[in-house]
Amino acid sequence: MDLKQYVSIVQDWPKEGISFKDITTIMDNGKAYRYATDQIVEYAKKVGAELIVGPEARGFITGCPVAYALEIGFAPVRKPGKLPREVISADYGLEYGKDTLTMHKDAIKPGQKVLIVDDLLATGGTVAATIQLIEELGGEVVGCAFLIELEELHGRDKIEGYDIFTLMQYPY
Ligand code: PRP
Ligand code: MG
Repeated sequence: MDLKQYVSIVQDWPKEGISFKDITTIMDNGKAYRYATDQIVEYAKKVGAELIVGPEARGFITGCPVAYALEIGFAPVRKPGKLPREVISADYGLEYGKDTLTMHKDAIKPGQKVLIVDDLLATGGTVAATIQLIEELGGEVVGCAFLIELEELHGRDKIEGYDIFTLMQYPY
């Protein structure tokens, strides 16, 4: 299946110069959503994932069906003030802006093999902060899976040494 035909490109959104890759048109097509999920499920099996971690919000709609298919857990990474119990935090720079991510302190068991799933690898700031959180909690990041990679933003360089799987590549 050519998944790219289900991605909607929105020029100059959310601001001038950004060529936004809208994945909601993958999700609203059952076959495309399932196909994309199945590819990541196969990758998750290959790397031996025991837990899926996904950053809000698009990491939820990308990562949760993978966890469901494998009958393993899903742990959310959230922006500050959203998780009710004790959290740890990591700051990160975004493609457009700056923010902080948090995880519950007990979200990961020591040594647990974790796969990070998100929709997009852009500058790599989000995934780098997510790796920091997982490792601080004693997890082992066995891979990072994305629907889309924006190659010219060089997100890979921020997470050198980690295994990366992307379904679609665009220049930016
Ligand atoms: C987007 C996207 C990735 C991240 C990629 O999330 O869903 O999580 O940016 O960018 P990076 O590689 O430069 O960090 P965003 O923070 O816009 O929030 P959302 O998922 O809640 O829409
Ligand atoms: Mg996101």
